[in-house]
Amino acid sequence: MSLKDKRILVGITGGIAAYKIATFIRLLKKQGADVRCMMTPASSDFITPLTVATLSENPVGIDFYNSKTGEWTNHVEWALWADVMIFAPVTANSLAKMAHGFTDNFLLATYLSAKCPVFIAPAMDLDMYAHPTTKNNLAIVEGFGHTIIPAESGFLASGLSGEGRMAEPETLLEVLENHFAKDDRFVGQTILITAGPTYEAIDPVRFIGNHSSGKMGFALAEAAAKKGANVILIFGPTHCKTNHKNIQLLAVQSAEEMLQAVQNNWKNATLGIFAAAVADYRPEMVANQKIKKSAEDLMIQLIKNPDILTWAASTKTSHQRVVGFALETQNGLEYAKDKLIRKQLDAIVLNEMGESGVGFGVDTNAVSLIDKNNNIRSFELQSKVDLAFALLDALFEK
Ligand code: PMT
Repeated sequence: MSLKDKRILVGITGGIAAYKIATFIRLLKKQGADVRCMMTPASSDFITPLTVATLSENPVGIDFYNSKTGEWTNHVEWALWADVMIFAPVTANSLAKMAHGFTDNFLLATYLSAKCPVFIAPAMDLDMYAHPTTKNNLAIVEGFGHTIIPAESGFLASGLSGEGRMAEPETLLEVLENHFAKDDRFVGQTILITAGPTYEAIDPVRFIGNHSSGKMGFALAEAAAKKGANVILIFGPTHCKTNHKNIQLLAVQSAEEMLQAVQNNWKNATLGIFAAAVADYRPEMVANQKIKKSAEDLMIQLIKNPDILTWAASTKTSHQRVVGFALETQNGLEYAKDKLIRKQLDAIVLNEMGESGVGFGVDTNAVSLIDKNNNIRSFELQSKVDLAFALLDALFEK
């Protein structure tokens, strides 16, 4: 889910953090958003209207009246155009005016005409931010139903250090992404997701593993969290990262550890999606010390790992659904259907290795979703991020 074609109205007020808005506009444009910006006259001391207009690819709203063309700028039209308004940075002065209905510039008049959701990212020095008046004004605008994107702690333009820095452009972007991705069907759901490979120790320095990067499972976790679900993400060794507040992270190494983590958390889940590439076998004995290279041959006896997916499906209640993944190199549909029936799943997602851009490691994937009624739906090659949203939508279709 991106911000493609979303109409974002950015209100810039006169604080030093205004320089960060160039990056923010860039991030919005990169996602395909339609961006218009409004500036208070004071903000043009910190970032030029030309910069803002160039990056947003739209004229900037500053004055009610354009003295060159003699035209009046219709602030109501600007407000009604927007899907959301985001004010960043918001100074103590502009915040106070927003809280009390002052409209002594174009931006504030537009704000009062807006019917869309409003986001406010304050930025000021730490004492101003901590002042009871500011706290009070933030509470007032929050009471209007607006979303405050809290200031962060760090180095401030005054030379002091503390709370008052505007949230980073990436954070502003994430807040908007979460807003547009929010989906009522996911609110109140707890989705347990397994991701990545498992490593089965041979000795203290060696293991049996596979090429799973964790990208598919992490994409599913992020998408579910953005849609509003609580997510329990149980993952094997991976470089993937997420810090979404709706995601509880549980790192494991081996299949047995993954099973344990699933067993500890399964009763809280309404849906389980098992995207991990779990090693089917592990060494029967793990050497205490590094195995020395001496003999010509080395035999490692392997034993079967527990099947985590089968365990979850066999213990599920009527409120729970279980979705497996299948990675096949041949006879994909046949083998996936067999797993669906044998493991008593609600659905299975088949990816077939061999097709370019599909499966392990890559940023893209193409899959088929097969449900227990034998409905088959194909998802063409796309980024794992987009695919994750599409799969979740399909799983929650009525
Ligand atoms: O991580 P990426 O690089 O992004 O790659 C994504 C992926 C290719 C790993 C993912 O899309 C995928 O297909 N995951 C399942 C891979 C796999 O191991 O498939 P399988 O056919 O061996 O297993 C079938 C199902 O049983 C899977 O849901 C698996 O999680 C589960 N399983 C398997 C063995 C086992 N001991 N316990 C399990 O729970």
